[in-house]
Formats: sequence, C-alpha cells, structure tokens
Amino acid sequence: MSKIIAFTNQKGGVGKTTSTANIGAGLARAGYKVLLVDLDPQINLTSGLGLTEAEFNVYGALLQEYKVKAYPIQDNLALIAGSPALSSFEKVKGDELDREFLLKDLLEPLLERCDYVLLDCPPALGLITLNAYACANALYIPLEAQLYATDGLEKVLEMVTRVQRRLNPTLVVGGIFFTRFDPRKVLRRETAEVVRDKYPDLVLTSTIRETIALGEAPHLGQDIFTYAPTSAGAMDYGHLVQEILTR
Ligand SMILES: Nc1ncnc2c1ncn2[C@@H]1O[C@H](COP(=O)(O)OP(=O)(O)OP(=O)(O)O)[C@@H](O)[C@H]1O
Ligand SMILES: [Mg+2]
Repeated sequence: MSKIIAFTNQKGGVGKTTSTANIGAGLARAGYKVLLVDLDPQINLTSGLGLTEAEFNVYGALLQEYKVKAYPIQDNLALIAGSPALSSFEKVKGDELDREFLLKDLLEPLLERCDYVLLDCPPALGLITLNAYACANALYIPLEAQLYATDGLEKVLEMVTRVQRRLNPTLVVGGIFFTRFDPRKVLRRETAEVVRDKYPDLVLTSTIRETIALGEAPHLGQDIFTYAPTSAGAMDYGHLVQEILTR
C-alpha cells in the first residue's frame, strides 16, 4: 500500500525541499517506488532535481487542463513538476466545493504504482497546503533549531488538529526533525532540547547537520547521495530514511 507523506512547516527555509528531494532519493535507492510532488510556486524541488523545462505541471493538472504527468528523475524516482502559477491556486479555486480534495483526486489513480508519494509544501498554510494535509497519511516537520523555531511548529500542529476534525481523520504527525543542525552552537543545542522535552514522542532521533554539499547539490540538479555520497548530509539523510521506514 502506498503512503503519502507531506513535508511541511509554515516557516520558510527550514529544509522542506531539501528533505523531500533527499528522502525521496534515499527511499528510491532502498528500492521503493517514489513519486515527488512540487507544491510550491517557488519550484525549488523541480529545478533542484534538474527539471528546468516541464511542459506539464501539477497546477495545470489540478485545473484539469491536461492529464497529470510524472517525469522520471532516476531509477524508482519520478516528479510531478511545480509551477509559479500555483500562487494563484487559492484565488482560482477559492469558492469551489471540495476544493481541499483536488490533489487527493489527482493522486488517487497514481497510488497503485507508488510505494511513497512525497509532497513538498510551500511555506504557508493556505489552500495548497490544505490539499496536501487532506490527502497525506503522515506529515513530517523539519525544524531549524533556533529561537522562535517552535512558533511555526505550533501553527502546524493547530492546523493538523483542525484538519483531523474536518478533512482527514487519519492524518498523523509522523515526526519532527532538526535540519541545518550545528552541534557547536549552544543556542541550537538548547532549542533542540526544549522541543524534545515538549514533544518527546514526535522528535526523531536523526538530525540533519549543516552541510555545504546539501546546498550545492540542487544547483547541479542532483541529490546528496549522487553528489556527495560520503558527506555528513548523505549520512544524515540515510539515517533519517531508515528511521522514517520504521515509524
Ligand atoms: N542541512 C543543510 N545544510 C546546509 N544547507 C542547507 C541544509 N538544509 C537546507 N539547506 C539550504 O538552505 C536553504 C533552504 O532550504 P530548503 O529550500 O530546503 O528550505 P524550505 O523549507 O524548502 O524553504 P521554503 O520555505 O522557501 O520552501 C537552501 O538554500 C538549501 O540548500
Ligand atoms: Mg521549499
């Protein structure tokens, strides 16, 4: 059975896209069939995986302008491209009945061919993110361990409770994990401890260290396992993939 996982945090720049790309690549290398979906109008996931010219994207498919198209990226890994036009999704679909379930309907026929569908959410809790929450089995929340990190987290958890009540009763928070972690910085260590104390069941053991190669890889359209297989980033995302597989 396939599992839909959304990477989400309304806070920007915390590692949602980096995690979607590299966890997807890690799962694909472990032999799972993985479909990635770029739901962010910034299209960082699409361009970071080397897809510069995607004629068919998730926005056009959601508007039923054409059939959904998944572009092959590597063995076991495919991508439904994003589009800058996603920024007008809310305006266009704002008063349509069942507007929260458009992504669910779109993905439904693809599920039998995938083990995992990973959704890269935008840094906002608008209609696109609601569509992701409405169809996901689990949410994973990347967090940068720094002051105010928990503000974004609490907003996401509030939203999850509302979504569970109204749209998707089986939605769970799969876990929270720290990205861009620098164990030498005391403040970061302390923030991580505070979050761990507050949400002991949700914080994962794996953390992703600040790694230069993780920032470089998308500029070459590569994942971390291809670009720098012996880097700290590859090691950390490798562990995180294993941990996600056991949850
Ligand atoms: N562990 C890391 N070490 C070093 N750089 C990182 C790491 N994780 C992410 N980055 C870099 O930080 C920036 C933000 O990361 P990313 O794009 O994954 O965040 P995001 O949450 O998707 O952002 P947005 O909210 O804008 O979509 C990117 O330039 C990325 O390459
Ligand atoms: Mg992003």
